[in-house]
Amino acid sequence: MKNLLEDIGSRSRWPARLDVTQSVTGLALALFMWVHLVLVSSILLGKDAMYYVTGFFELKFLTGWTHGYPIIVSIIGIIVFAIFIIHAGIALRKFPISWRQHRIYRDQMSMMKHSDTNLWYWQAVTGFVMFFLGSVHVYVMISHPDQIGPYASADRFVSENFWPLYLVLLFSVELHGTIGMYRLAVKWGPFDGKDPRKNRKRLKRLKTTLTFAFLIIGIITFATYVKIGIDHRGSAGERYAPPGHSSAMLEGGEVE
Ligand code: HEM
Repeated sequence: MKNLLEDIGSRSRWPARLDVTQSVTGLALALFMWVHLVLVSSILLGKDAMYYVTGFFELKFLTGWTHGYPIIVSIIGIIVFAIFIIHAGIALRKFPISWRQHRIYRDQMSMMKHSDTNLWYWQAVTGFVMFFLGSVHVYVMISHPDQIGPYASADRFVSENFWPLYLVLLFSVELHGTIGMYRLAVKWGPFDGKDPRKNRKRLKRLKTTLTFAFLIIGIITFATYVKIGIDHRGSAGERYAPPGHSSAMLEGGEVE
């Protein structure tokens, strides 16, 4: 009997544990995506900047800027993918699982006109989109870690037709990430202060500003890769090396 009660007691702690795990994995992913935005947008500083940023992660400086160790990118990708799957898996339990549940939620949304309820809906929709598109992208990064660089990435956008996927993913990520961070701040309340209502309004303004800022940087970055990809279409597959350097320094290492 005691064991049964203990069992019920410990089982009832699971929802709280899952909630904390979802928040921690969400925070980790949002922080990763902010770093990711900065790294990917290094192309805005020029092809050389992106070449060296990519090379740094492959530890190319240890091999005289030749082949480096692209496997490191695969390992980071596998860790991110694992966190991504855990986060999405836990989120699934709160999704409406039938058309009827979805309808009830939508009706409540229009009845309540409560903006945080609407935010939850958009977070669920963008999360659903990201689960599919993000998986494709991260899998490509894990399986082809040596094919990242100014030309290799731009060719993927244009010649390999990844641009529609990136465009939809970009909007989903930027909405999902900032809404998620806002909800975390409201949920765990570290910024409640003396006047939680006023602070919530401030947090919401900050969220909207960050969403727009990240979207603008993301769209300009997107346009830059597309421009390079279009210019490079005639020689797609050819790798970039900084001006005046040998073929051993090509992005992804020497190619035959
Ligand atoms: C370790 C894992 C990851 C790596 C190494 C990585 C790397 C990259 C690279 C190099 C690009 C430039 C395009 C290309 O080379 O194909 C890119 C673009 C992009 N990535 Fe990732 N990524 C990772 C994870 C993610 C995740 C988890 C998401 C979101 C679910 C994501 C969303 C995006 C988006 C939206 C773009 C387009 C950015 C823009 O056009 O401004 N990435 N990523």
